[in-house]
Amino acid sequence: EKGGYDHYMRKEIHEQPESLRQTIAGRLDVDRGEVDLDVSFPPGFLADLEEIQIVACGTSNYAGQYAARLFEELSGVRATVDIASEYEFGAGRSPDRTLVVAVTQSGETADTLGAVRRANAAGARTFAVTNTLGSTVTREVDDTAFIRAGPEIGVAATKTFASQVATLAMLAVSIGRERGALAAADVRPVLEGLRDLPGAVQQVLDNENRVREAATEYGDSEAFFFVGRKLGVPVALEGALKLKEISYDHAEGFAAGELKHGPLALVTPDTPVLALLTEGGRADETMNNVTEAQTRGAPAIGCVSAGDEYGTLDVSLPVPDVGVAEPLVANVYLQLFAYHVANDKGRSIDKPRNLAKSVTVE
Ligand code: M6R
Repeated sequence: EKGGYDHYMRKEIHEQPESLRQTIAGRLDVDRGEVDLDVSFPPGFLADLEEIQIVACGTSNYAGQYAARLFEELSGVRATVDIASEYEFGAGRSPDRTLVVAVTQSGETADTLGAVRRANAAGARTFAVTNTLGSTVTREVDDTAFIRAGPEIGVAATKTFASQVATLAMLAVSIGRERGALAAADVRPVLEGLRDLPGAVQQVLDNENRVREAATEYGDSEAFFFVGRKLGVPVALEGALKLKEISYDHAEGFAAGELKHGPLALVTPDTPVLALLTEGGRADETMNNVTEAQTRGAPAIGCVSAGDEYGTLDVSLPVPDVGVAEPLVANVYLQLFAYHVANDKGRSIDKPRNLAKSVTVE
């Protein structure tokens, strides 16, 4: 059932080229710059739209943070992300000009359902991005887009994160196009990046041995810091969550520029820094921050756009050229790193202590 893999998590990491193919199948028209998610909004709704509020928990929240930056760039609408358990429909907002997008793999997360109910009560239009047909969230929202990642058994979300981001990116393009905010030529590079995602992820998977070696070399460190900028920030947060969730090691993710505002005090030769140094993530500026950590003795592992080179990195992991999708592809290295660190320690990878796949209490 695990298809020859020791754990569902590793199987699901390796399924990503195929799950991403399913996510985009029949939805992209790269030449015409169109996306078809089979959803239609009421006439005039998108033209008047003022704000997209994304609500989600955990990994789905990080997918939302990645997407919010794309929504702002591609659809010209202000986009915010709330932790679902903290969400309130605030004063000063107009419900009929707000789209609330709930991102939830299971469609059953109580905190996220609670946020959807608060949005519905305020009169906002609600939209679900989920993996699960017939899930509770699909019955409570106005519209749904399925991410089509297939069943995910491991408690750690892996392939569903990639498919969530890809689906949200398609939603951002379709809203941007329908609002007339974008010409076909503007979205072409984004759609090409999405089209090329499965192959790019496969190239990363083919480098698994390099990550496994890095995991073995650095896995016993005291703590791990994940840093990035722009689209690299949500991926840094996700990389840290994945590692802490399955290895029980202390890991933190943050915006690279924040290192010097506090966390640098924790950096020692026993705290590796993992950095997103790709397109969409202001690589050179991020590298400056990595160098600050290296000066304090920290080993540095970087996910680097193919063709670029930062000679001072201790480990350099190449990321194929897929534009704004590069941080998403780099995330696959971070998934593999978390997996191998946890596996070397003999952790209960598919069912980490204290956690459940679907959190149905608030
Ligand atoms: O089913 P959901 O996407 O709503 O779940 C949200 C979180 O509970 C989930 O992403 C959690 O953070 C994962 N275990 C992380 O790997």
